[in-house]
Amino acid sequence: MAIQSLRTLPVEDLTEFDAYTELKALAQEIAAHDKAYYQEDTPKISDADYDALRQRNMAIEEKFPHLKRKDSPTDKVGTPVQSAFSKITHAVPMLSLGNAFNQDDVQDFIDRVRRFLGLGEGEQVDIVAEPKIDGLSISLRYEKGRFKHAVTRGDGAVGEDVTQNVLTMKEIPLNLPDDAPDIVEIRGEIYMAKDEFEELNRQQEAAGAKVFANPRNAAAGSLRQLDTSITAKRPLRIFAYAWGELSVPVADSQMSVIEKFKDWGFPVNPLTKTCASLDEIMALYNQINEDRPELSYDIDGVVYKVNRLDWQERLGMVTRSPRWAIAHKFPAEKAQTLLEAIDVQVGRTGKLTPVARLKPVTVGGVVVSNATLHNADEIERLDVRVGDTVMIQRAGDVIPQVVEVVKSKRPDESTPYIFEEKCPICDSHATREEGEVDYRCTGGLVCGAQAVERLKHFVSRNAFDMDGVGAKNIEKFWEKGLVKTPADIFRLSDHEDTIAKWEGWKEKSIANLKTSIEERRTIGLDRFIYALGIRQVGQATAKTLAKNYLSFTTWQDAMIAAQDKESTAYQDLIAIDGIGEAMAQDLIDFFEEDHNREVMTDLHEQLNIEDFVAPQTDDSPVAGKTVVFTGTLVTMTRSEAKAKAESLGAKVSGSVSKKTDYVVAGESAGSKLKKAQDLGVSVLSEEDWHNLTSNL
Ligand code: IVH
Repeated sequence: MAIQSLRTLPVEDLTEFDAYTELKALAQEIAAHDKAYYQEDTPKISDADYDALRQRNMAIEEKFPHLKRKDSPTDKVGTPVQSAFSKITHAVPMLSLGNAFNQDDVQDFIDRVRRFLGLGEGEQVDIVAEPKIDGLSISLRYEKGRFKHAVTRGDGAVGEDVTQNVLTMKEIPLNLPDDAPDIVEIRGEIYMAKDEFEELNRQQEAAGAKVFANPRNAAAGSLRQLDTSITAKRPLRIFAYAWGELSVPVADSQMSVIEKFKDWGFPVNPLTKTCASLDEIMALYNQINEDRPELSYDIDGVVYKVNRLDWQERLGMVTRSPRWAIAHKFPAEKAQTLLEAIDVQVGRTGKLTPVARLKPVTVGGVVVSNATLHNADEIERLDVRVGDTVMIQRAGDVIPQVVEVVKSKRPDESTPYIFEEKCPICDSHATREEGEVDYRCTGGLVCGAQAVERLKHFVSRNAFDMDGVGAKNIEKFWEKGLVKTPADIFRLSDHEDTIAKWEGWKEKSIANLKTSIEERRTIGLDRFIYALGIRQVGQATAKTLAKNYLSFTTWQDAMIAAQDKESTAYQDLIAIDGIGEAMAQDLIDFFEEDHNREVMTDLHEQLNIEDFVAPQTDDSPVAGKTVVFTGTLVTMTRSEAKAKAESLGAKVSGSVSKKTDYVVAGESAGSKLKKAQDLGVSVLSEEDWHNLTSNL
């Protein structure tokens, strides 16, 4: 019988043979539609027809469970093997959260919110509190009610497309009801329940396969499988707790949006509650902490979110976390173990960090064998010695620390540890500058450790993000003399024949290496600056610099000119919000070093460094403009004004110069207003500012 006519038969009337034939045909047909829709973006049938196919498939499987196919569309959709995950830019960045560790930090958070919003004493701030799930975050995009794609957090701006894998998760609805807006991005945490994780590990062990360290690693490993049929067998679950792009607002409070998500079929955490005061918040925190061992999934704290969405919007974000939310972490877990040795590690800036080598011990579900001792002063403060029994603690992702020596267990023959003032790698003298806690190796470039650490930083995820190169390979390339400076990485293809002879290097890994290098010849200015590993210049500062100088050459020229402290280049540099004199000095020092300049010139020849483009603000009239706020603002607080301006792509400066585009003058503005008038800079009232920037 032809398949089309079979499909008109009620499922109850199908013979076993009919069912077998139809399931086979449906599996092929649905796979072809998935490919057309998800990979080629050209659906061949209507959504309703597609849903009907899947429903038919499920109905037959329910009646004939023994005929369910290994490649059943119910738990496996799309092509089984993806060559690699492609990247997708988040429509709205995925943020992380600031941390609170005690009641005072939570009080500070609430005070900050009140201050930022300029709230009067009588005004109550409702806070939604919910468990912080220990998994990995995901963004699920729906267009016109249909699931479109799933993307991991990645670096917050760009994540990996894990659509095919997420499609295997039964808890995730494929369609949204009619009341959902055209565009909906649901954000939440993918996790594995504790008992399901144990069971998975039992199976893995029996099969001689990899055993996972904890449920979070198991969830991450399962989601990032290239073979979706493996993901389909893993018990992945989700809690929805936030959102990205929404074409139309769905409610006016955090709590009601979450309730909507629940109505739409997403699992939401049942412990989520609205609290009206700090006392209520703390009571809930303590309750959740107490119940933690009995919960079926791992959590590592409680997240607090301002309930009113208009307030969330006004609060906006700082660097990469919202001002309207914070994670209150649970106290660190502790354990006792033997300290077998103290090694000193050398960082990329030459900083010496003593590390305790420990007898392996499990702390909070993770085996720990190293802990940081921070610096020489800390060793002295703790009087920690080799052979001591120590108390270590581990909090979240933080590196484990030695917190205390168990003096009663100290062996009689023990002697104090002496911190040697020399670099363990290159033997150079180590010095400590006035007021600094750390010793630094003076070896500079002769110190292999520094060079290797710098190179590792250069290829790391938030810098050049070169998967195919990777930290381990860097060590090898360095040892073999193929890579001494960052630009050498871009000349690695010249050594292809040499590398091919090394053990473990196959055609595929060499191809990956080459692709990784070629893909990164074009790089954004902010990533480039961050990758240079200049002291104190983290991601946020790198972005600030890129935003202010826009192109590599402008930045380089300005940094060189800024060596003269009398220059306008120097004045402009320290006028940038977020750049203080100490950081300016580090930048100048970096550019003063001949070797660094050579490295940059060499790199510049290898690369196409893209000019910085302010995100999503192209049509903003203040994008790229420098704005100074002065005087008393009445309709917004100073921090709010600054945050809003920056979100529209403007640079906010603290002082007025010829380069200032607008001065927004509040009440009783003084010298800055006068200077603006003298220099002929446009002066706006608060109202003018709002007119200029509203509807954006
Ligand atoms: S809200 C803009 N709520 O924690 C707010 N995050 O440390 C975004 N997380 O990247 C996050 N449980 O992966 C939120 N109930 C919860 C959460 C939660 C776990 C994770 C999430 C985020 C990380 C930040």
